[in-house]
Amino acid sequence: MTRQRYGIPRTDRERETLARHVGASFGVATDAALAWLAKAGLDNQRVLVEDNVVLGGMLMVPMGQYFGGRAIAMTGIAGVGIDPARRGSGAATTLMRRSIQEMRRLSVPLSALYPATAPLYRRAGYEMAGGLYRATLIAREIAGGERLLPMREASSSDEAAIRRVYARYATSRNGWLERGPYVWRRTRIKRDGSRARGYVALRDRRIEGYVFYHQDPQADGDVDMDVTDLAYATPEAARTLLAFLADQRSITEAIRFHCSPDEGLLSLMRERRQHLERRFPWMLRIVDVRAALAARGYPMGVSGRLSFEVSDDVVASNRGRFTLDVDKGVGCVKEGGRGALRLSVRALAPLFSGHHSGRRLAEMGQLQASPRIVAQVDGMFAGPAPSLADFF
Ligand SMILES: CC(C)(COP(=O)(O)OP(=O)(O)OC[C@H]1O[C@@H](n2cnc3c(N)ncnc32)[C@H](O)[C@@H]1OP(=O)(O)O)[C@@H](O)C(=O)NCCC(=O)NCCS
Repeated sequence: MTRQRYGIPRTDRERETLARHVGASFGVATDAALAWLAKAGLDNQRVLVEDNVVLGGMLMVPMGQYFGGRAIAMTGIAGVGIDPARRGSGAATTLMRRSIQEMRRLSVPLSALYPATAPLYRRAGYEMAGGLYRATLIAREIAGGERLLPMREASSSDEAAIRRVYARYATSRNGWLERGPYVWRRTRIKRDGSRARGYVALRDRRIEGYVFYHQDPQADGDVDMDVTDLAYATPEAARTLLAFLADQRSITEAIRFHCSPDEGLLSLMRERRQHLERRFPWMLRIVDVRAALAARGYPMGVSGRLSFEVSDDVVASNRGRFTLDVDKGVGCVKEGGRGALRLSVRALAPLFSGHHSGRRLAEMGQLQASPRIVAQVDGMFAGPAPSLADFF
């Protein structure tokens, strides 16, 4: 009989084998994979071991995600890789399902990931629930910018104030991360070690907005900009940042940045030649249905009661009937109810994030409820289209 173990790598040898498999999975040298995995923290690495042989593993990145204006604990999954010689025998499926059960034990309500292939993650209860969008602006076509606030280069002592501006900005964008150290580092330092340049917009020495970016020299002498982080807390800061970006136009043609699809700055272009693309879809797993529904924020003007019946073949405690009461933007969940709204835990993910309305899910046969209940669902889960600005 084969013996399988899922957990944190126990020895340097297990960590090195994991790095070898992850390196081979993503086209990265083993040393570079070791450094990458170490950056996420040794306790956040997971392996699946069979008869003392590491079959593969992944990273679990602890952070949070904003839905309805409230941050909910979320574990990001990254670097899933199986030994190229041992694929197709269910190792990744076991790894993912075990990790979901671990997250449930640790009371983490959500998990998200960028899938290379979706069927694998669907088997663990994930579903497509949003996108990472990238806008490309032509610097000389930016209009509406004004140098209203003074700007200066950011310094390390600005970091706490910058994070407050980010939190406020992210709160109103469904799906954005409450970043942990792993993602914050990625907004500042590229894989090759180069640091992003940062500038802050100030009012009476208080930071109201900021932008961090890498420059990308082109063959024709232009220097494009890849913005890795940008946020503002006031309309004046938004216009100031836009003016700052426009001020780069003598040498910069394209400015690329990740944003929500309804980003306000995009409405301030002179012409239509801006480009917004969904670069990657992301998947969400509702690990703890009751905790997630209670932790999410809801539209202020909506109140009512919904009774769910959920199926889940990985997490037993998610199965069954329960009732959600929403009032003044807050949800409260109780056991039991009539089960007037029936769906799988997978179908719940795009509803929860706002990626699909109840009506869409019902059209696709992924949600069963009367038209009256579906209309009620759509009021409760209404909100901006979900996005993410960070890759992990
Ligand atoms: C994707 C990967 C992790 C799957 O590992 P695995 O142990 O072979 O997966 P499983 O045997 O559990 O298969 C689960 C499902 O994943 C999908 N899958 C597996 N290997 C796949 C591959 N090479 N390409 C596309 N889909 C694949 C299939 O849908 C499979 O189900 P099916 O065989 O019934 O169609 C592995 O191929 C790998 O390490 N790939 C390179 C790195 C990568 O893409 N990682 C995912 C990053 S999000």
